[in-house]
Amino acid sequence: MSETFTKSMARNIFYGGAVFFFLLFLALTFDTVQSVPKRSHSEGVTDSVIRGKHIWETRDCIGCHTLLGEGAYFAPELGNVYKRRGGEFIKAWIRAQPTGAPGRRQMPQFNLTDQQLDDLVNFLKWTSEINTTRNWPPNIEG
Ligand code: HEC
Repeated sequence: MSETFTKSMARNIFYGGAVFFFLLFLALTFDTVQSVPKRSHSEGVTDSVIRGKHIWETRDCIGCHTLLGEGAYFAPELGNVYKRRGGEFIKAWIRAQPTGAPGRRQMPQFNLTDQQLDDLVNFLKWTSEINTTRNWPPNIEG
């Protein structure tokens, strides 16, 4: 065995390492893609959930709020708001805006119908039940 570190040894380490980590990358990608259907809970996507998502998008809720961490950091995260507050609170809250409470950031009045509020709550309920974040955040108020 040679005492020196040759070019071909370096090349073998490079190619061996590249192949090993590429295969590891493929295996982890496969594992993630396999587990997504179990965690996304897609059978829960009803027509009402779809309508609720449409309201969510057309009223630009994401312009102030985050949903599962994505969005704007002006107002609270809503990915688990259904679990934290429940459907009745969410509807009453949206109807009561703006609160006008001094010193607090304000949310606009959207003038949604009862049906639209139910759809929005169903969308937020579905969002709170999917597990694409692998149980993150660990604390429900976090
Ligand atoms: C202009 C910014 C803005 C927009 C747009 C907005 N919100 Fe808000 N929202 C806020 C602010 C600010 C608060 C927190 C106010 C407070 O705590 O006094 C809030 C609070 C909430 C809460 C209560 C959160 C909690 O943790 O108790 C819910 C539910 C909510 N918003 C839903 C929505 C939905 C649904 C939409 C879209 C239809 C929306 N918001 C659009 C600013 C906004």
